[in-house]
Order: sequence, then structure tokens, then C-alpha cells
Amino acid sequence: MTTTSTTSRLAGLRDRTVAERRRLIAENTGVELARLDVLEPVSGLQVEQANHLIENVIGVMSLPVGVATNFTINGRDVLVPMATEEASVVAAASNAARIARVRGGFTTSSTAPLMQAQVQVLDVVDPEAARARLLEAADEILRLANDQDPLLIRLGGGARELLVRLVRSQVQTYVVAHLVVDVRDAMGANAVNTMAEAVASRVGEIAGGRPLLRILTNKADLRVTRARAVFDAESLGGPEIVDNLVHAAALAEADPYRAATHNKGIMNGITAVVLATGNDTRAVEAGAHSHAVGPDGRYTSLSHYEKDADGDLVGVLELPMPVGLVGGATKAHPVAQAALAILGVTTAQQLADVIVATGLAQNLAAMRALATEGIQRGHMSLHARNIAVTAGASGDEVDKVVARLISDRAIRSEHAEKVLAELRAAQ
Ligand code: MEV
Repeated sequence: MTTTSTTSRLAGLRDRTVAERRRLIAENTGVELARLDVLEPVSGLQVEQANHLIENVIGVMSLPVGVATNFTINGRDVLVPMATEEASVVAAASNAARIARVRGGFTTSSTAPLMQAQVQVLDVVDPEAARARLLEAADEILRLANDQDPLLIRLGGGARELLVRLVRSQVQTYVVAHLVVDVRDAMGANAVNTMAEAVASRVGEIAGGRPLLRILTNKADLRVTRARAVFDAESLGGPEIVDNLVHAAALAEADPYRAATHNKGIMNGITAVVLATGNDTRAVEAGAHSHAVGPDGRYTSLSHYEKDADGDLVGVLELPMPVGLVGGATKAHPVAQAALAILGVTTAQQLADVIVATGLAQNLAAMRALATEGIQRGHMSLHARNIAVTAGASGDEVDKVVARLISDRAIRSEHAEKVLAELRAAQ
């Protein structure tokens, strides 16, 4: 990772103004302050640019972008930009990252960036033999695929392997050929879809059937990233909390109702970084869902937790991470470019490392809140902040109004207006 971040420990960032936060981030990452101007809505994605991204454009929609602090990933400090509308997410990730750094932060590992495209072949009379014929012709099919993308080959990527599966459906047995493609720093959808379309008719000929669907699979299970962190028992709140967190994770592993919510918490972190960097949130989410189904066909949690020999909590998260640094909105969206500059990542894999580490941090933070005071207290104080600001409070009035709303147990706009009027009258 080439980030020049000296530290991700920007204590008190929360209490700074937006302008001060940007300056601190620029100073700590070596990114020119002017590059962060695009975070100002008027300078971000212009309607003209948006008009080239999708159809029937009528405007753009803004979302808050925050920066999670305290992350150490593979020994390097990283500030993590997150785009989300949900209160508490950025603070929670930063909190968990602060606990993780006591024991060295997050470490990650990844497979090569291998995406797969499927070619479905219908009406094959001898599917087993067709499978064998296709595997015999693997070199020819891979060559044909690689002819489509000389740039990818020059960059060291390309189609690597042909796999053939027989999928028995209610209608018939389909021969499904998989092209396994190393897509380097791309998300890879365009590259593999082009290859699949190019080889489909030859695959059909060899299999002796009619090719139909030719499309990547979002079950990108050959392109996974794992993050691991040890969460110090004392910083978590003591040995009892470690035990409770093991119980919280165990329920998510055993019960699909809990697993869905547990995984949603993971995706709070993951989707926020994927979105901030202009990547395809749906592709990552589809990959995550498919990975949450174990070999026994049961939906379960994406993360796993254990108590280690020192009594600390170890968390591990693994999921497909099909993200890229080239193509699509990653290049076209000015805010995505700024987010990537803040991260200082130079490969798609480094970006995947950050995303999965953030997912693990988010997950731990949610479990810890749930296993201790619950999440409502934190949510309510943020909610009270929103209400206070909406009622017209500004500057140091905000904290005063928030404190009153909480102590009066009345987090409502009309009460905020009344408290604010009293405050102003008393000055
Ligand atoms: C809320 O957005 C996410 C949580 O529900 C996650 C969880 O329950 O683990 C708090």
C-alpha cells in the first residue's frame, strides 16, 4: 500500500469542523487539500457527467461521506472513507478499529482476482461426454477468450482455466462452462462478459448443444478476501464481554434470523466503502449473500469469533470482494477518485483488504453494542442531534439542546424548538 498516512489515530476528529477534518486528512495522507474539494456537493459529480453514466438522468443524489479512523491494516495506518446515510456506522467502525489496533490491527489475505463467467448450453444429448470434450478443448477456448482482451493480457491477467459443470434442473441437464479469468485491478464484469459472449458459439459446437446465457457469476468464490483481528479483552470491557461476544456470534452461526441481521451489520461497513469508491455495491452484496450459504445449504454468518489462548477475542471475516480501481464509476466519479486517494491504494486487492477489514470492524462494533448497553442509546443521541439541528440549533447550542432532549426523555422536534427558545431567551 502506498498511502503516506502517518497515522489514522485522528482523535477528536468528530469535534472538528468539516473544513478542519479535510485539512487533517490531507495532512495525514499526503493528498493535496484541493483534491478534496470534490467532496463539496457543488464540485462533486456534475449532472453532465452523470448524464454519461446512466440513462434518462434528471439529477444526482448526495450522501454523507465520513472517514473512519484508527484502522491499521497489514501494519499500515489507513483512513477509510465511507458513504452512508446511517448514523453511528462511521463512529462504530472507528471504535472497533481502535480496539483492534491494541493487538496490531487487521491482517488480511486474498486469492488472486479470479472472476468467472458462465456459458449455459441447452439440449446436449450426452452431457458427461460433452463435459469431457470441452475440457479436452480447454486450450482452444481459453485462447479464443484471451484474444478478446489484449490489454488485460499485457497487464498480466487473462483467462486461466475452463471448468465445466453439469447442472440438473427440472427442465433438463445443462452443460455450464465456466471461464475463470484473472481480471487484475478491474472489477472484471466487462472483461469476463465479453469473453463469455465470444466463446459461447464454439462452446455450444463442442458440447453439441445450443448456447443460451453468457454472463459472469456474482458468486465470486474464487476471488475472496479474509480479514482477521484480535480484539483485546480488556479494551472490549473484560472477559465477561468476550464470552458474551462469543455467544452473540454463535447465535448468528446457528440461526438464520440472527445471521441476516449480523450480516447486515457487516454490510453497513462494506457497502459504505464500496459505494465511496464508486464500486458496484450490488455485485458485492450478491457475492456476500451467496457466500453466507454454507456447504450444507444453510444461511449462516459471514464472520466467526473465538476466544484465543490469551482470553482475547479473535474475529475472522471472509467474503468475495469483486471490486476494481479501473472502469465504471471508480474512474468517472470525482468523489470516488478522492476516496481512493485518501485510501492510498494502488491495487484492487489492497482496496478489498480495506473493505473486508471495515466489515469486520463494523460487525464487532455492532455485536459489542448489542452485548452491552444495546444500540439505542448511541442511536438516540445521534437522533437527538438531528432533531436539534433541524429545530434550528447551531454551534454550541446543539450540545445543550441534545443534553436536554435526552435528559427530558423527549427527543421530539417540538420539544427541541421549545428548549432552543428557552436557551436563547436566557442569554
Ligand atoms: C443496524 O444497522 C445493524 C445491526 O442490527 C447489526 C447487528 O445486529 O449485528 C446493529
